[in-house]
Amino acid sequence: MSGKKTLFYSTDLEIHFGGLYALQKINIDILENEILGLIGPNGSGKTTFFNVITGIYKPTAGDITYKGESLLGKEPYQISRMGISRTYQSSRLCLELSLLDNVLIGMHNRQKQGYFSAIFSRRKMIAEVADFQDRVVELLDVFNPDLKERMFRPVGELPQIDRRRVEVCRAMAAEPTIILLDEPSAGMTPDETRELMEDIRKVRASMSDVSIMIIEHDMSVISSVSERVIAINFGEEIARGTYEEVAGTPAVREAYLGKEVVHE
Ligand SMILES: Nc1ncnc2c1ncn2[C@@H]1O[C@H](COP(=O)(O)OP(=O)(O)OP(=O)(O)O)[C@@H](O)[C@H]1O
Ligand SMILES: [Mg+2]
Repeated sequence: MSGKKTLFYSTDLEIHFGGLYALQKINIDILENEILGLIGPNGSGKTTFFNVITGIYKPTAGDITYKGESLLGKEPYQISRMGISRTYQSSRLCLELSLLDNVLIGMHNRQKQGYFSAIFSRRKMIAEVADFQDRVVELLDVFNPDLKERMFRPVGELPQIDRRRVEVCRAMAAEPTIILLDEPSAGMTPDETRELMEDIRKVRASMSDVSIMIIEHDMSVISSVSERVIAINFGEEIARGTYEEVAGTPAVREAYLGKEVVHE
């Protein structure tokens, strides 16, 4: 196929909550530098997959491997430090804090200076923070120069699209190898969604290789950004391939019955 290397894969991944199997025998791979779409109806297990990858939920069976190493038993902060970062379906911004502070939070996993430096080596600490701040300014600038101008303002003052941009900036500030976006377009108009996707593409082009896995309900977003799509329903894979292949699969059409699967 593409000849890209596999960065991440899950092997027969399962998780159940009591009697409910939220994921069953999931084998999903993420390739280097790709944009992979994950689709499925409400409650099909998409967010659960992200929660398992990032160590929030422990799987009941199966394995997850990233850069040749199992992630089982690792804590969320360790997984983030290894290069996997994410956004959440519902906003996790601190509305009273500035844009700058919100994005700086995403960099804590890269911080080298700790409490010791804060007391005994102030100069190193200040240099590190200044360096992080420069990086935040760069990121905000790529997303939207307006955001840079407003970086000391509270995030709560921003419209929805800019809040989403700040969230994606925060996830990218960790300089991840894989970024997981959970419905970034939630609450946005189709035009805003297109704008955000354009921004994400721009930032991606400005960064070294990063793979993006995106959960999206908006099929026009999935069809325009994903190089590959995987569909799940009731925690099981039902199709994979290009958007057209997946959208044309009877099981996917059935899962979305009553909803329109839009071809671009
Ligand atoms: N912590 C939990 N405890 C019990 N059940 C859970 C838990 N987390 C998820 N579930 C259940 O697992 C199933 C999959 O949920 P999940 O949130 O992954 O769906 P989703 O595909 O992200 O849906 P949506 O499109 O609505 O966001 C649902 O039935 C949900 O109720
Ligand atoms: Mg979800």
